[in-house]
Amino acid sequence: MGAGEPDFATPEFIREAAKAALDAGATRYTAVEGILPLRQAIARRASDGIAGSAVETSEVIVTAGSKQALFDACFVLFGPGDEVLVPTPAWTSYYEMIALARARPVEVHGRPELGLKVTAADLERAATTDTRGIILNSPCNPTGSLYSANELREIAALARDRGWWVISDEIYQRISYAGHAPSMLEVARERDNLVVVNGVAKAYAMTGWRIGWAIAAPEIVKAMTALQSHTTSNAATVSQYAALAALEDKTRSEDAIAGMVAEYRRRREAAVSVLRECGIPLLPPDAAFYLFLNVGRALPNDPEAGTSFAARLLEEEGVAVVPGAAFRAPEWIRVSYATSFDTVVEGAQRIAALWNRLLG
Ligand SMILES: Cc1ncc(COP(=O)(O)O)c(C=O)c1O
Repeated sequence: MGAGEPDFATPEFIREAAKAALDAGATRYTAVEGILPLRQAIARRASDGIAGSAVETSEVIVTAGSKQALFDACFVLFGPGDEVLVPTPAWTSYYEMIALARARPVEVHGRPELGLKVTAADLERAATTDTRGIILNSPCNPTGSLYSANELREIAALARDRGWWVISDEIYQRISYAGHAPSMLEVARERDNLVVVNGVAKAYAMTGWRIGWAIAAPEIVKAMTALQSHTTSNAATVSQYAALAALEDKTRSEDAIAGMVAEYRRRREAAVSVLRECGIPLLPPDAAFYLFLNVGRALPNDPEAGTSFAARLLEEEGVAVVPGAAFRAPEWIRVSYATSFDTVVEGAQRIAALWNRLLG
């Protein structure tokens, strides 16, 4: 229950489109910023329900997974002496990407009563004159928390007021159990300080294809393209055609996503009911496919309770989870339910068994 990737196969119509693309010659380099039809499809998709003007193709770059888009953005926007606010707990790579750009990640700890989310006021308090930006992740890995449109609006307004960049990682947007997960693009009327990152990995079960993208001002896209031209060149050509099929065939892709989300929901409900029964504090998982559990009470004198609990879980119960320390929340563990229903139920029961044993 450690892996952060869908256990489903990529939908068949997408695999078929990739095979057809290969046979049609999709075996060469593409433009560094990606094939035009895919960039157009991304721009069209991102323009749905948007607050400002429609997204132009010149605002889109295709990358080798959303991870590369996030790295490119950090490298292009931040440098030595800059501070970047990271609502914490957060996905482990943000801290490293910011550090790779020689900037300093600043942890802004989320509020327990808000599902470990931060408010605009929390960000304001953590800022200094060196603050240059923020990396926001809604829905959030590892907490499964979802920022409302209002919460996003307040953060966008603060960032605009302070002249900060906002990198908004929306990779889990389509995996929501609490209705539509709003994008920053839906609340920010002006977006010249915004880099919105998304991709096909999680929603379409396409982690291995490595296709993500960023939507940003044309000059930022140009800088990211220049960086990418010296690092990876284009994202894999055949994968770009597969992603194009995923975005263009709305009927089949929406069916596939709905089926996967329904199954995640079933697993989530089963796991939550087992874990709630034994009293482990857990956050309401509104989105993504993780449960974030506070195991501090089971190991009260251990400052790294999550790591110790995870090690014992592996050794004594044969269950792998990710210690919260990876997300800078050392009392917690992250449990992925992107695995079969029976494994999820059995895994939750074994977590409960260890918890009960430790609490005597
Ligand atoms: C929050 C978050 N952002 C980005 C990524 C990277 O996704 P991709 O496969 O598109 O690079 C992950 C993967 O685990 C993630 O959890």
